[in-house]
Amino acid sequence: MRKNIVAGNWKMNNSLQEGLTLAKDLQKALNGKTVNCDVIVCTPFIHLASIAPELTSIGLGAQNCADKVSGAYTGEVSAAMIASTGAKYVIIGHSERRAYYGETNAILKEKVLLALANGLTPIFCIGEVLAERESGSQNAVVEKQIRESLFDLSVADFGKIVLAYEPVWAIGTGKTATSAQAQEMHAFIRKTVEAKYGKQAAEDVSILYGGSCNAGNAAELFANPDVDGGLIGGASLSVEKFLPIVEAF
Ligand code: 13P
Repeated sequence: MRKNIVAGNWKMNNSLQEGLTLAKDLQKALNGKTVNCDVIVCTPFIHLASIAPELTSIGLGAQNCADKVSGAYTGEVSAAMIASTGAKYVIIGHSERRAYYGETNAILKEKVLLALANGLTPIFCIGEVLAERESGSQNAVVEKQIRESLFDLSVADFGKIVLAYEPVWAIGTGKTATSAQAQEMHAFIRKTVEAKYGKQAAEDVSILYGGSCNAGNAAELFANPDVDGGLIGGASLSVEKFLPIVEAF
């Protein structure tokens, strides 16, 4: 079944102490509240084990995982290590990983397989850069990202994936996709999934929007029939900014 989800992507922000305080404050703010979506925070690796015991209703995720099982890969963190902290989610294929760390569709495919093998839910990011949007090739770009990284999965495994459409030109720029642009792309993504995995899989997959989503625009974005929530960067770094987005559902 399709779920509404609001996930925070803290990116490379917050010391361990600051992260712990933010996680505790957010959990406290949600205690006793009924919300109409799953709430997730994706923290830096080193925060995971400390934050996991503090969360009761909030899901915990990492922002990346290695494309290898284990071994001599200095500085890498495996999907198994992430799972061992109690985290249940992992962002894979964020545009910052693609752009700054050379992560290709083929590498991301390996990461997805390892996340699934370790019981983690991948939050798989897709999205075009500005030049691609301006040349009208955004659909082709997003279709290729999905096909090359995800379309060898079984229908059962695909059913474990959460998708996040993040137009790169909207990330951290204050320039949100319009509600209509988001809906149009999310409907296209759902159609792409349907063509490969059928109607039920397309109906069931949660597709989040990310890119300058905030308290002021979340409700309008989430009201679209194919927008099932948000992946939130900057506005996930304070309870005051994040909570109204959660409550936009
Ligand atoms: P901003 O919300 O800061 O634009 O970041 C979006 C994002 O990249 C979430 O993964």
